[in-house]
Amino acid sequence: MSPSFGPGSPALLGEVHVPGDKSLSHRAVLFSAMAEGTTELHGVLVSEDVRASIEAVRALGAQVELAEEADGSLGGTIRGWGARGPSAPDNPIDCRNSGTTCRLLMGVLAGWPVEVTLTGDASLSRRPMRRVTEPLSKMGVLFETSEQGTLPVTMRRSVEISPLEYRSPVSSAQVKSAILLAGLRAHGRTTVEEPALSRDHTERLLPAYGVAVDSDPAGPTAAVTGPALLRSAGRVVVPRDPSSAAFIVAAALIVPGSSVRLPGVSLNETRTGFLSVLERMGAHVRVVPFPEAGNERVGEIDARYSPSMHGTVVAAPEVPSLVDEIPILALLASQVEGETRFESVGELRVKESDRFEAIVQGLAALGAEAYAEGDTLVVRGRAPLHGATLDSLGDHRLAMTWAVAGLVASEPVQVEHFDSVDVSYPRFAQDLARLQSREGSDPHA
Ligand code: S3P
Repeated sequence: MSPSFGPGSPALLGEVHVPGDKSLSHRAVLFSAMAEGTTELHGVLVSEDVRASIEAVRALGAQVELAEEADGSLGGTIRGWGARGPSAPDNPIDCRNSGTTCRLLMGVLAGWPVEVTLTGDASLSRRPMRRVTEPLSKMGVLFETSEQGTLPVTMRRSVEISPLEYRSPVSSAQVKSAILLAGLRAHGRTTVEEPALSRDHTERLLPAYGVAVDSDPAGPTAAVTGPALLRSAGRVVVPRDPSSAAFIVAAALIVPGSSVRLPGVSLNETRTGFLSVLERMGAHVRVVPFPEAGNERVGEIDARYSPSMHGTVVAAPEVPSLVDEIPILALLASQVEGETRFESVGELRVKESDRFEAIVQGLAALGAEAYAEGDTLVVRGRAPLHGATLDSLGDHRLAMTWAVAGLVASEPVQVEHFDSVDVSYPRFAQDLARLQSREGSDPHA
């Protein structure tokens, strides 16, 4: 499917309910599967990535009864394997495009006597797995990987694993989570220290399943003491995804006359770096926090057309809090006054695609200028965009970035392999169209 976007979008007006948070949906599914007892889930994202986690835990013996609810999210129950542990699956587990499924599963399965092979699609099969297999090997988990340390990865039966004190070279919530989950099967304290704090959903959600996490955001470190068994969390409600919200917010900031409201979005500070950057750029964005509910901050994001935005510097320590938003922030940067610098963003090269290269090439194809200075991405502002045909490269965040570009380009922007949006925001194009038609997005309509 290669739809076209723009040119000359009407103003985006109204309210939109972006889908459930992808990171939290994975964790809610995986933790419920690990737990003793039945957990009720609501707000779970319906997407290809989360489907990979659901199918994985089913294959490992969890009883999943989830169905689409009136608001378009998944709700229902998962009965976990608990103290019995996961069962050996009949076939390799296909993690599809999902790094979170794959890397977190390595931690989920560590220390259990099952042999499991993890596979993925072409994109996931190129992504580095040593960042997880190396620390878990130090704990005693036995892996077989390709020579390059990529998928397919086979985990051998491992029973006795030891705790680990790990200083991670990368700020990665997937690495941190895999090690902490493995630590639950080891006798003693497992600690992960990162260069800068990555998203802390694992640390916030595990306590709901009865597992204490000792975290120090200043370290930043997180630690668990094993052995520890997860118990049903009772009821978990997943808030809406700030990373999906970022695309709608960005579109509203650059399409003249726009004004949008996005209620119920996670405002977890390890995820909302893009809002701080937008504020520095002079965007008209307002955040209205809801009363604290559960262990995640939630609220409404309001965004209005902002013609006098300017460039900024995104410094290394804030990168983990906006790492998935860099493609859309880079597009925005091409439309504002002055230059924007994204420092230390080398991680972009190992996402669902080489996003660093894709941003530079894509913006050039649209008539804007972006270039690399080592691991810094520099974007020049106030570029009039023209039409282009751009390939999403199977990367959901690029597909949505180029769609937003079309709204302000002088000719249509055609996005090849647009259906990669199914990974995180299947209804993205419909939500945009509803805002353009001034109806707002009402999932009950
Ligand atoms: C995620 C962590 C991030 C992020 C990804 C989801 C998670 O990846 O880019 O979309 O849910 O833990 P890294 O851990 O590789 O930074």
